[in-house]
Amino acid sequence: MTVATWDTERLLELDLAHILHPVTNLHRHAKSGPLILTKGHGVHVWDSSGKCYIDGFAGLWNINVGHGRAVLAEAARDQMNQLAFAPNFFGIATPPSIELAAKLASMMPGHLNHFQFTSGGSESNESAIKIARYYWSIQGQTERNKIISRHGAYHGVGGVTTTATGIPAYWKDFGPVAQGFVYVSSPNLYRNKPVGMNPQQFIQHLETELETTIAAEGAGTIAGFIGEPTQGAGGVCAAPDGYWAMVQRVLKRHDILLIADEVITGFGRSGQMFGHQTYGFMPDLICIAKGITSGYIPLGAVGISDQIVAVLQTPDRMFMHGFTYSGHPVACAVALENIKLLEDEHLPENARVMGEKLLHDMTAAVGDHAHVGDIRAKGLMMLVEVVQDKATKAAYPALSIGGKLQAATRARGLIVRCGDNGIAIAPPLTVSSSQIDQIVNIVKDAIFEVFA
Ligand SMILES: Cc1ncc(COP(=O)(O)O)c(C=O)c1O
Repeated sequence: MTVATWDTERLLELDLAHILHPVTNLHRHAKSGPLILTKGHGVHVWDSSGKCYIDGFAGLWNINVGHGRAVLAEAARDQMNQLAFAPNFFGIATPPSIELAAKLASMMPGHLNHFQFTSGGSESNESAIKIARYYWSIQGQTERNKIISRHGAYHGVGGVTTTATGIPAYWKDFGPVAQGFVYVSSPNLYRNKPVGMNPQQFIQHLETELETTIAAEGAGTIAGFIGEPTQGAGGVCAAPDGYWAMVQRVLKRHDILLIADEVITGFGRSGQMFGHQTYGFMPDLICIAKGITSGYIPLGAVGISDQIVAVLQTPDRMFMHGFTYSGHPVACAVALENIKLLEDEHLPENARVMGEKLLHDMTAAVGDHAHVGDIRAKGLMMLVEVVQDKATKAAYPALSIGGKLQAATRARGLIVRCGDNGIAIAPPLTVSSSQIDQIVNIVKDAIFEVFA
């Protein structure tokens, strides 16, 4: 693979002078500077000095079909030449937005037939929460506007999604939080299951918590419940069997809408096309983004049930929500080709098989290490959780160990998401068995070096 040469010094200086990086310690960044990536092919990316890495986090859990798929570039080019942009506002549509909505409907449960497009995950969740509230409000239930979220959830950083996100670091010092959110525990077996309970008892415990929360707030004040089938940024929390069936049962009992945030789990990463299939539940609203285009171009959508759409179609109303780029024809054209690749190459199935191998091999490689507290995964989403003390599960403090793990993995040619809680791994769904071996070996060597 030939890689162009770049003036790294110049790019580094310009980055430091002009980019404000998201989710980055800006003080440290001012000293360390960026990792400048210039090329991608398959599961690999190259930096500006020509060094090759395995992209073990698939960009941001989104390059599902891998890098360098010419067919996606061609789809974008063809659509730009045909019609670069037209909105979905005011009843306008384009062939790609229509075809994509129909394709998504064919992939989803029978009652999810309408889609409003967005440009990413936060916008999809903002839309779903607003639609849930609006659904109740226009039926006269204006007080039914609270949203139940979960501690450890990540739903984005928009006006209401910042608050839906159950990780306080995303709200702290950003001013008043949005009103109308309540939180319940996530089904994290390692962190939240009381000692002595088995997983089934833990689910009953969470059911009691959910019922108690609904009773305390009043079911008639709650519009919806939002959850990621597998929590991602909050620590790859795969739900135990039976958890989602319990949530669905409780919500049905109280007529509360279920919003599935499938921004990461959608489009194969969970081991089936969608996370609600992997876990066996039926959302009323589904939020998608990332893997819908494998990150080649920004796009998201919210899928809306027939029951909700019937209410939205009330005769005396304009539906006053949407974004300039809702239904962007270029992004929709890319999504259609991307979904074709996911289906033709059976990538959800590869994610399931490679995910099982990754979990098995990683557990064998570092599961017994004194600073590895837990290894959990579903499909191709994994967290190797590190702890100061295995017996007490004491976590490392903020800004302590994550930088070291990052340096040790990057030095060995692997890009993963390293934090003070450990290493999150989510390679492209095209990853091969030998590439999983390489990832496991690098993570093992990095952990042994950092904790030597
Ligand atoms: C589960 C989930 N929801 C929502 C979002 C927000 O998506 P975006 O960054 O595209 O706004 C993310 C981003 O990582 C996510 O992981």
